[in-house]
Amino acid sequence: MAYRVRAVRDHAEYRAALGVIGHYFGWVPSEEDAERFSSRLPWERMHAVFDDGRIVAGAGAYGLELTLPGGPTRCAGVTVVGVLPSHRRRGLLRRMMELQLRDVRERGEPIAALWASEETIYGRFGYGLASLSLNLGVRRRNVGIRSDLQPEGSVRLIERDEALAVLPRLYDRIRKRSPGFLSRSREWWEARTLGDQPDSRRGAGPLVRALYERDGRPAGWVLYRIAQEGATYEEWKKTVRVTEVHGIDDAARREVWRFLLGIDWTDEITIAGLAVDDSVLLVVDRPNELRPRMSDGLWVRPVEVGAALAARGVSGDGRVTLEVTADPHFPDNVGTWTVEGDRVRRTSRRPDVRLDVQGLGMTMLGGFTFAELARAGWVEEAARGGLARADALFRAERSPWCPEIF
Ligand SMILES: CC(C)(COP(=O)(O)OP(=O)(O)OC[C@H]1O[C@@H](n2cnc3c(N)ncnc32)[C@H](O)[C@@H]1OP(=O)(O)O)[C@@H](O)C(=O)NCCC(=O)NCCS
Repeated sequence: MAYRVRAVRDHAEYRAALGVIGHYFGWVPSEEDAERFSSRLPWERMHAVFDDGRIVAGAGAYGLELTLPGGPTRCAGVTVVGVLPSHRRRGLLRRMMELQLRDVRERGEPIAALWASEETIYGRFGYGLASLSLNLGVRRRNVGIRSDLQPEGSVRLIERDEALAVLPRLYDRIRKRSPGFLSRSREWWEARTLGDQPDSRRGAGPLVRALYERDGRPAGWVLYRIAQEGATYEEWKKTVRVTEVHGIDDAARREVWRFLLGIDWTDEITIAGLAVDDSVLLVVDRPNELRPRMSDGLWVRPVEVGAALAARGVSGDGRVTLEVTADPHFPDNVGTWTVEGDRVRRTSRRPDVRLDVQGLGMTMLGGFTFAELARAGWVEEAARGGLARADALFRAERSPWCPEIF
């Protein structure tokens, strides 16, 4: 059977390609859904596989910025990847991933990133797990902010227009210094972050936007929906489903949490995708009641190793040499690279550490140290003290987090 793989060329093809991942959500994208989606992910970045003219697989990539410890850099945000169950395990994902990676490189994006539906899929394409994700299922009635931390500022509920005017600026301040954060275009804010189509509510109520102000100035926010389960009054269980909580600093985040924990007559607060070192764990009186769980976060693939390392940035003085031993798609990424200050160059020096491109992806956000990766067999120390030298330079202040599953 001959399959063709290419970018889609018209709206009907776009909608069909989107419909493949839709299959796995029980979602058939409407004309308008496809229109909305294409305002963020254009046709030429949506690949599809054709079987006798019919689309049976699709994969897209947003053109985004992702913040690394060195600051924001261009990144392909891989999304809506799917193969119809009738065509699985015939190599269609592989064909799409290969074409997509070549396309990402041609566009000059040094890295690609994604959230994986299953952890076993993307390593073979050079993606490494770069951050972990903290997910909470808070038993609200049992937990509060520690009594020694005094409240400050106030929260008010705002309309969509005010949110659109205020939140993007605040968000940008936070994301530029927060490894793991993605840029958001105006369309992203309108259609996605603040989008509130009934089918995006998944059985909950409308999106609520709450703004936290301190000294009369916006300093944080939370977006959430309230869902109610149970047929009778006695069975009612009310859940606050939080989409995102942000603050311009930890004190502001704490006050947004104080607001959330104070929403009366609700039982549970759920949120996914926090940093594993989120300060909420330590500002509440009963951390166990947050019911923390951990899962994989963002997967990152260095597409152009030299440019990716330069964008990653290092924090200390000195020099470290990394040998990239293998890359399943780009042989020119293989080799030995010296990082010194903001300079990255190919070298014939003896390496400090050895790792493949997937292992390098794991270091891109600062989510894991080289020593941790060595303990798990992802990195090999190639010279005495090499792990310590690499860690001194690649050190990150805080755990990365990507506050949005895309
Ligand atoms: C995941 C999915 C896209 C795979 O597509 P596919 O066309 O069957 O994959 P391929 O045949 O190209 O497989 C390529 C390789 O990945 C492996 N693979 C594919 N899906 C896998 C999975 N879910 N778990 C583990 N390995 C997987 C294959 O075994 C194959 O391995 P090989 O290179 O060693 O031979 C498809 O199963 C799907 O649409 N799943 C549901 C939606 C989804 O999860 N999308 C991903 C969103 S992030």
